[in-house]
Amino acid sequence: QAQRISVPQLMASKGGRKLAALTSYSAPFARLLDDALDMILIGDSTAMVGYGMPDTLSITVEQMAAHAAAVVRATEHACVMVDMPFGSFQESPAQAFVNAARLLAVSGASGVKLEGGVAMADTTRFLVERGIPVLAHVGLMPQYVNTMGGFKAQGMTQEAAERIVRDAQAHEAAGAWGVVLEGIAEPLGRRITETLRIPTIGIGASPACDGQILVTEDILGLSGGRIPKFAKQFADVGAVIREAVRQYASEVQSGAFPGLEHCFGVKKPD
Ligand code: KIV
Ligand code: NA
Repeated sequence: QAQRISVPQLMASKGGRKLAALTSYSAPFARLLDDALDMILIGDSTAMVGYGMPDTLSITVEQMAAHAAAVVRATEHACVMVDMPFGSFQESPAQAFVNAARLLAVSGASGVKLEGGVAMADTTRFLVERGIPVLAHVGLMPQYVNTMGGFKAQGMTQEAAERIVRDAQAHEAAGAWGVVLEGIAEPLGRRITETLRIPTIGIGASPACDGQILVTEDILGLSGGRIPKFAKQFADVGAVIREAVRQYASEVQSGAFPGLEHCFGVKKPD
């Protein structure tokens, strides 16, 4: 049996083939994504995409752990990372360790992702030195929606760009295996990718990044309306589902479904 892709293997991809990553929150999706991808993330975006919450702040460690466990059970190839939700790691490195360990113990995922700049680098070091691989997340950090005053692209001024470079470098120095760059100016994404020795995974960053990640619902036409500028819709699965459901409802309503072939204890004609 082939081994699941490991964190060191993802790190070794730097400068080689680009890493393809997507989010997944559930077994049926994870099963469909697994073969093609290098990495699957249980994103805290499930707060918004899966639960219809206005932002990502309210999802809990237990919810994230349950989603992650479903994804790990349904996969055997892609490396699985799980987001540390808001409030589960910012208080202290020790708090972060307890919650990261719980996420990995419940789910079997291979590491965690956490949002934060220089201030969170000590936390990254604390986790990595204790056996928990960390994927850092800088630039547009949705858990900072209230300090940002909305979801907007970051690093547009020289000063802001320099700060994001320092954020990424601090996590690299702390032992992060990679950095997600979200919603930043393209030249900045390129520059950070060229500067770091660890892989960068872009979402609204730059084609130069070492890998890309998107929210699966956005690429499949399942996010119900507007998709972000950085996403691309690769299929309209939503239309397929709507048509199948319409057909099912119409067959139930007309009595065409179920037939006797779907029933138990029906005598076969000789
Ligand atoms: O929560 C999420 O889905 C993410 C990725 C899109 C990077 O953090
Ligand atoms: Na996230």
